[in-house]
Amino acid sequence: MKKRIAIFASGSGSNAQKIMEHFKYSNLAEVALVLSNNPEAYVLQRADNFEIPSHVFDKKTFYETDELIDILKRLEIDLVVLAGFLWLVPENLLKAFPNKIINIHPALLPKYGGKGMYGDRVHKTVLEAGDEEHGITIHFVNENFDEGEIIHQAKFKIEPNDTLDVIKFKGQQLEHQYFPKIIENLLKKYN
Ligand code: GRF
Repeated sequence: MKKRIAIFASGSGSNAQKIMEHFKYSNLAEVALVLSNNPEAYVLQRADNFEIPSHVFDKKTFYETDELIDILKRLEIDLVVLAGFLWLVPENLLKAFPNKIINIHPALLPKYGGKGMYGDRVHKTVLEAGDEEHGITIHFVNENFDEGEIIHQAKFKIEPNDTLDVIKFKGQQLEHQYFPKIIENLLKKYN
């Protein structure tokens, strides 16, 4: 049977798009559900375009009920992928999917992670620090922001004249290149 992926995303969902494209004709896995806390998120439109069902939830449901766990279990989800999802994952969800929740972060963790470190703020901080390299991290999710075991990192060099938009773009390219492949590699290890 194909492995089943659920994607959580709060915004545009360009990573979700790449994952849905990657597994569209895969024999290994499929994206079974897209979940969002944001009813306006463009990722929901992207899911629609792939005819993948989506589910919108609110904060109370996420933190105070097992509703999402029930949905994920009913759909026999094997891997939960956070792709631009900003809320800390509660303990009940972590326990229901031990080592089965992964996230992508637009920096080389453990640098530039933690609460509030997302979006342009990450890249701005990297430039201000004068770092010579930057990159992305794919990691398991635990009870803290951006702290679970690292699965994969990819780097690029920051050139002297690189602006925030340039390094953001370079990072996105790496995210799109690696995230689907890393998901595939992980799923191959599951029986
Ligand atoms: C990515 O940069 C990812 O690293 C971070 O959120 C962003 C999501 O972008 N967690 P998108 O919605 O996939 O375009």
